[in-house]
Amino acid sequence: NNINNIFFLVAYLVGGIPFGLILAKMFANVDIKQSGSKSIGATNVLRVVKEKNPTLAKKLAIATILLDAFKGIAVLLVAKFMGMPDATLWAIAVLAVAGHCFSPYLMFEGGKGVATGVGVLAFMLPDVTAIALVVWFILGKTLRISSLASLGALAALIIASYVIYPEIPNIYSHAPIWIISIIVVYKHIPNIIRLIKGQEKRVA
Ligand code: G3P
Repeated sequence: NNINNIFFLVAYLVGGIPFGLILAKMFANVDIKQSGSKSIGATNVLRVVKEKNPTLAKKLAIATILLDAFKGIAVLLVAKFMGMPDATLWAIAVLAVAGHCFSPYLMFEGGKGVATGVGVLAFMLPDVTAIALVVWFILGKTLRISSLASLGALAALIIASYVIYPEIPNIYSHAPIWIISIIVVYKHIPNIIRLIKGQEKRVA
């Protein structure tokens, strides 16, 4: 079980890599932890870099989404390749999201877990995640409020997971989905307060 523990540590450490922060610093010389929502995710990269360079902002935001999604998938791929059981893979998935949201490199601050969550969940439950992605895309396009689209997609994910998998194979109940959801909602508390007050800004 040492190997399990190594995977858990690696998942947390790799999940914690703040790609958005790094890219925005490297290519636009801005500190997104000091501006906008202060989150390290793609939405804040777009929001903050846009003030300097809208085309660059889009590119960096897309790169951030992809890297934040793939970091969790990368650890899962290696673990799966090494024959780790489903329960271990689920723990890796949760820890990658936790790493992103409570990064060991940022005094346990970080992002909101959406891109990383989508990545690991797409690996674990592609059908359920596909539904959540469709909802995310539709809500994003129509409402143009990133946080609301994320939270709506999260609700769709939870519902779809129960409809498609009343029991998730080889693990005890829907616990990992709930843990990821609680982390994501917790990280969105400032957004939820702004949404209630009608103060959450549109993306474009
Ligand atoms: O994916 C993150 C999004 O839901 C909210 O990000 O920066 O607007 O708080 P932000």
